[in-house]
Amino acid sequence: MTTAPEPHDAVEVITAKRDGGALSTDQIGWVVDAYTRGAVAEEQMSALAMAILLNGMDRREIGDWTAAMIVSGERMDFSSLSRPTADKHSTGGVGDKITLPLAPLVAACGVAVPQLSGRGLAHTGGTLDKMEAIAGWRASMTNEALLHQLEEIGAVVCAAGEGLAPADRKLYALRDVTGTVEAIPLIASSIMSKKIAEGTGALVLDVKVGSGAFMKSVERARELARVMVDLGTDAGVRTVALLTDMSTPLGYTAGHANEVAESLEVLAGGGPADVVELTLALAREMLAAAGVEGVDPADRLADGSAMDVWRRMVAAQGGDPSAPLPTARETHVVTAPADGVLTRLDALSVGVAAWRLGAGRERKEDPVQAAAGVTWHARPGDPVRAGQPLLTLETDTPERFERALAALDGGYDVASAGTTYQPVPLVLDRIS
Ligand code: URA
Repeated sequence: MTTAPEPHDAVEVITAKRDGGALSTDQIGWVVDAYTRGAVAEEQMSALAMAILLNGMDRREIGDWTAAMIVSGERMDFSSLSRPTADKHSTGGVGDKITLPLAPLVAACGVAVPQLSGRGLAHTGGTLDKMEAIAGWRASMTNEALLHQLEEIGAVVCAAGEGLAPADRKLYALRDVTGTVEAIPLIASSIMSKKIAEGTGALVLDVKVGSGAFMKSVERARELARVMVDLGTDAGVRTVALLTDMSTPLGYTAGHANEVAESLEVLAGGGPADVVELTLALAREMLAAAGVEGVDPADRLADGSAMDVWRRMVAAQGGDPSAPLPTARETHVVTAPADGVLTRLDALSVGVAAWRLGAGRERKEDPVQAAAGVTWHARPGDPVRAGQPLLTLETDTPERFERALAALDGGYDVASAGTTYQPVPLVLDRIS
């Protein structure tokens, strides 16, 4: 059997981008498809990804790249559901447990939330790893079960199926090990190809900015948000983005079981002020994008209906919502060095410490420790006393403490009492 000749070759595409040119629609469609089926080698795609990182892509090229990733796999369809759908995607942060209270909350307001989530990446936490701290909970489900749960309960948090944007799965793993994660065209097309293929009607993006995020500056985050909002809008998905601060980690916990516990506090009507603020801000955006008016999500936290959806959602996926959450075998407390005011708690330092304690992975296939992580006892702006617990490090494997402590070295500042602390707003901008 003879195989049809390829219409392009990889070197032609790589050199075009290396020399600063724009790739044609045809070249992009070919290279993404050929890479997915193995006709373009990993080292060739690595070179192309680096050329894209260095020379960028224009709006038409990013749209073509996203479309090519979508057609590499299946498209889901939620049009049979009796309620509108809305999804949220965070670009990744530290202590970012927002999906856990948000999905059942928005469902309790009448919108179906298909939250196809991922695992931790580098120092950032992944929703599936957090949910797996709940005894019995299963991340994977068939498309039929997903639709059924969305109709009956309104919220699903699960792993994206193998069939959704397989080109992205392959390319993402390559970018992770070739220093090409941070390219805006590649991040935007990676996220948006999965969201468009998933078939949500509305999408709210939480674009993180700061030390603990992939985008370190507001300008870069705004550019990423703009590209993603345009991609979603062009594909008929009502898309809006909030730029939110990730220089300080969210809440008081980073890890898995400890973040589930904190999310339960929010669902019970309490919880840390910043986690509640961001959950409600994103919920309001999702309801507006889904066309639902006249419902205040704060009421659904207060009256227990969001918690009811959470319990049903967890139970439907094999989890026991009443089971005690795992706790770490070993803890190590870091105390405040002096009396004063905590003026900085660095998200990246806390994220790396949690990762090194066993909450994150060194290799893709590594398991995570459900009880590993960091709990902090003060947030920037809080007064502290010399010797009071500032952070508690949690792990099942105490030999990890030393490297986690090294990550926290220089990761917080205590200034003398009376120092004025200028809080950073949590929501920095909105792009629609
Ligand atoms: N999340 C994704 O899904 N893709 C990226 O490229 C970055 C974050």
